[in-house]
Amino acid sequence: MPGTPSQDVVQSMGPGAAVCRDLKEPDSSRPQFNPVEVSMIRDLVVKNRSYRRFYQDVAVDPATMREFVDLARLCPSAANRQAPKYMVSCDPSRNALIYPNIRMDGNPPEGESPSAYVVILEDKRLGLILACDYGIAAQTIHLAAVEKGLGGCMIGNIDRNGLREALGIASHFEILLILALGKPMETMVIETVGEDGATQQWWDDERVRHVPKRSLDDLIVD
Ligand SMILES: Cc1cc2nc3c(=O)[nH]c(=O)nc-3n(C[C@H](O)[C@H](O)[C@H](O)COP(=O)(O)O)c2cc1C
Repeated sequence: MPGTPSQDVVQSMGPGAAVCRDLKEPDSSRPQFNPVEVSMIRDLVVKNRSYRRFYQDVAVDPATMREFVDLARLCPSAANRQAPKYMVSCDPSRNALIYPNIRMDGNPPEGESPSAYVVILEDKRLGLILACDYGIAAQTIHLAAVEKGLGGCMIGNIDRNGLREALGIASHFEILLILALGKPMETMVIETVGEDGATQQWWDDERVRHVPKRSLDDLIVD
């Protein structure tokens, strides 16, 4: 099958790993400000996949969750309103209140669900929030989690009423997005979208998840 990685590539990876086989490497013939940093951010972005199955018993500690929110605190914000607020959860009892209110693609079974969550809220008292604000914050936390050997998945498919009730979220907060986190159990491979244009993910026999991305040439508009 086109785009299927060889067994040795997949076996050398292991859970929480992701590989991008088909996309071009950065052009090394061009001068780069700091090639080491360029490759670090690329590695992080490649590994920064949407993992949905986790070693649920591997906990994320509260200090790490605070560290993540501190990074979101430093992110850009339209008109610097800083209206996103964050509710974190990393203990099993609170996690159990969140999990029934989210829909992940192929919801993981008990034992493989996320061990932590960041619920991103909009504080409506601070004025209009733009979607890019919380997207930037979510991606920043996601990258920081990957850097620590964790992984996660952004979740927009939320039973917002159910979650508000379960967590007692005050009415001046809008529930925007959840970032589920944990130690990933999945291995993922980035593929290039084929001629049929399909962007649906698929699993192979080894339960490796394949994520098609459009080619670089397809994205750059002349
Ligand atoms: C704003 C946003 C909301 C998302 N909501 C969900 C969701 O509700 N459930 C889910 O399983 N995945 C969700 N995802 C994950 C996407 O399905 C995922 O990013 C996409 O399939 C590409 O995979 P990748 O992140 O590994 O590149 C969401 C992603 C984003 C950016």
